[in-house]
Amino acid sequence: MAYFLGIDTSTTSSKALIIDERGEVIAVASSPHTLQTPKPLWSEQNPLEWWEAVSASIRSVLEKAGISGDRIAAVGLTGQMHGLVLLNDAGNVLRPAILWNDQRTQSQCDEIHQRVGKEKFIQITGNVALTGFTAPKILWVKENEPDVYAKAKHVLLPKDYVRYKLTGEYAMDKADGAGTVLFDLKKRDWSDEVLAALDIPRAWMPKTFEGTEFTGHINEEAARLTGLKAGIPVAAGGGDQAAGAVGVGAVEPGIVGLTVGTSGVVFATTPSALIEPEGRLHAFCHAVPNMWHFMGVMLSAAGSLQWYRDTLAPDMSFDELLKEAEAIHEGSEGLQFLPYLSGERTPHPDPLARGAFIGLTLRHSRAHMTRAVLEGVAFGLKDSFTLIQNAGLGKVTQVRASGGGTKGALWRQIMADVLNAELVTVNTTEGGAYGAALLAGVGTGAWNSVAEACNACIKITGSTQPKASSVDAYRKSYAIYQGLYPALKESFRALGTKI
Ligand code: XUL
Repeated sequence: MAYFLGIDTSTTSSKALIIDERGEVIAVASSPHTLQTPKPLWSEQNPLEWWEAVSASIRSVLEKAGISGDRIAAVGLTGQMHGLVLLNDAGNVLRPAILWNDQRTQSQCDEIHQRVGKEKFIQITGNVALTGFTAPKILWVKENEPDVYAKAKHVLLPKDYVRYKLTGEYAMDKADGAGTVLFDLKKRDWSDEVLAALDIPRAWMPKTFEGTEFTGHINEEAARLTGLKAGIPVAAGGGDQAAGAVGVGAVEPGIVGLTVGTSGVVFATTPSALIEPEGRLHAFCHAVPNMWHFMGVMLSAAGSLQWYRDTLAPDMSFDELLKEAEAIHEGSEGLQFLPYLSGERTPHPDPLARGAFIGLTLRHSRAHMTRAVLEGVAFGLKDSFTLIQNAGLGKVTQVRASGGGTKGALWRQIMADVLNAELVTVNTTEGGAYGAALLAGVGTGAWNSVAEACNACIKITGSTQPKASSVDAYRKSYAIYQGLYPALKESFRALGTKI
């Protein structure tokens, strides 16, 4: 029996997972990371901590699985996207990694749009420059830490630093490459034009690979530290969202991945490099070879419900709150909730956007407010669906739902009704690490394609169908919801600058 190892370097921890060639999870182990916020808006981590956590997790997962390191046929990598790791000529880390959720680079984003031209930048990279992405971080280091910049020779993303420690190779997958916004989306490789406009040397950027391709092999030092055998191939894998989509089988157009955790992510595979002309959706390469994807990211999805419960009903369980809300009709009797509790990315990239209850009357109870939160989050997710459909993707046939927010039946039903699509749940719950292990398996030839691997290993475990009468009711509420952010935008701005 062959085994595949998936490694996920997320923000909170590094996880190692072993599956067998039927896709069964054999063992999982993880080790935590610390996060540093030395200044407001900053979010950083020490790359060496990832490497220590990864090697500890690999040792631990091999032990839990009860198999020796030479039984692993291939390794696949995934991790937090967009983080900047800068190395010198000798491969040493030059400064802490600047992470995906760091917000210091607004002026560099404006500068990028100005240097390349915003429309042209969207046409080439498929995206607008956002503070979270990698490109503006490189400019920030150049402008604020010239001594560091002068020593830089290699740009990597978090999981690719782990790859470098495992194999000694500078390499990156195309999904994460696109997330730097230094990629020519159509060509699936670095954009010479964007790099030149930003004065970033092409030589700093690693070679990029499709998700199932091997980028190198476990070296002697990594073998000694992890218990793996030297020579095991390491597949490119993908950023956490692309590998996570593989992990639930969202690998063909029409099957959309919906992850409702603290944030909410709508992930839609596209057969070509489609873009949303105003850059309101992210458009990146998929970890599936020669596929692309759209992505909408809502910052406070289940995070909204968590905030609401903790703040207004701390003594109640989520189940109790949801039970109460079941009795309320669709539309919460005209009460709406805007879920922008930590600003927003899609469809309104606005750090000053705020949450709101709108339409309160004396008739409204806590149950109405709970239901309004569930509905407001579903409407926010629908915004991403609407953009995806309008950008040329056509009919969404199935939504594969995962994350804590999709556990309750009421919220699942509301989402199916609001999105007017079947919502299914699947048997795999290990997200990106599972997807990365499957990509490694495809790399060895255990499956002929990513789609074949997903069909063989991922099974549907439940289905929620939209109810026609509710779909109609929500169509009307959604139309009102869509008008609220534009109406309040300037007020949010004023509130944000007053305080
Ligand atoms: C995706 C994104 C997050 C990070 C964190 O665009 O920013 O998913 O990758 O894990």
